[in-house]
Order: sequence, then C-alpha cells, then structure tokens
Amino acid sequence: MSYTLRSGVMCAISAAALSICAAAWAATPAETQKVRHEHYEKLGENFKAVRDLSKASPTDFAKLEKAAADVREASVNQAQWFPKGSGPEAGKTRALPEIWTKPADFAAAAKMFEERAPALLAAAKAKDLDAVNKAFREVGGACKNCHDTFRAPEE
Ligand code: HEC
Repeated sequence: MSYTLRSGVMCAISAAALSICAAAWAATPAETQKVRHEHYEKLGENFKAVRDLSKASPTDFAKLEKAAADVREASVNQAQWFPKGSGPEAGKTRALPEIWTKPADFAAAAKMFEERAPALLAAAKAKDLDAVNKAFREVGGACKNCHDTFRAPEE
C-alpha cells in the first residue's frame, strides 16, 4: 500500500506498518515545517500517553501498546522531516541550523532514539510495567539529548 501525504511525501506502508517515505519533498519549505511540527506534536502526545497509561490502574495494555508502537514508528527515519532548506531560513521553526551544519551529530541523536524505542514497544507488548517505565526514561533521555542541541527553546 502506498499513499501521498498532503506534504507530497511518498510513503509506502510495509507489512510491519512502518512507513518508509522517499524524500520526495514536493512541498514548499513552509509546508514541510508545518507537517514536521504536527508530526512531533503527535509524537509528544503518544509519548505522554505511554506515561499516563503506564500509571493508570488498571492499565489499558492495548492502548499502551498502540502508543508505544506509534512512538517506535516515529523513531524510524527522522531525517525525512528535515530536508535541506526547511530550517530557520524558511520561516518560524524550532529546528536549529545545527541540524544541517552538524549532520553526523544529528544522525547520532536520531539513532539514539531509534535504538531505544523498540525496548519500549517490547515492554508494552510484554505487559511489563517496570520495563515500560525503564524504557520510557531511556527513550525520554534520547528525546532530550536531541532537543538540547537541535531544538530551540519554546518562545
Ligand atoms: C533527532 C532529534 C530529535 C529527537 C530524537 C526527538 N526530537 Fe522532538 N523535536 C526535534 C526538533 C528539531 C524539533 C523542532 C521541530 C520544528 O520546530 O520544526 C522537535 C519538536 C518536538 C516537539 C514540539 C513540536 C514542535 O514542532 O515544536 C515535541 C512535542 C517533541 N519534539 C517531542 C519529542 C519526543 C517526545 C521525543 C522522543 C520520544 C522527541 N521529540 C525526539 C528533534 C528531535
């Protein structure tokens, strides 16, 4: 199955429900920024949902697993959200220029999230709340690690 996002990104959904998007940014940089903003807002909501659900008693494990799966999916291929030309030069964004001037560091920060996210999903699948909490802290560290260097503070 494949579809085209409003931004013009070509995506294919594999059996594993991972979206693989070719960097076919037909969108304007402003549109790219808007879709990126929405993407990370959604990630923030899903990540918060993992925390809230892990504290709920009784916990809805189906919802917890879905939120963890969405977080895991968002960890894959983050570079797709940052095509060249979609930084501060293209309008209001919290994406810092370092994303493009220090690409190796940015790739390492993205990789840290991608490597830690599967444990969160595995813990949710296993219905192991201690492991969910541990993985949540580790993934949260990866979010912060990237934000500290590559995201401007909120105005
Ligand atoms: C590889 C870097 C990186 C990682 C890892 C990362 N983020 Fe972000 N995040 C960013 C950048 C850059 C922005 C600013 C995007 C913009 O303004 O265009 C951002 C923005 C956000 C926003 C605000 C929305 C916005 O566009 O301002 C939220 C919420 C957010 N991230 C949550 C998370 C959470 C939760 C995680 C971990 C589960 C995470 N991020 C992991 C780089 C990252």
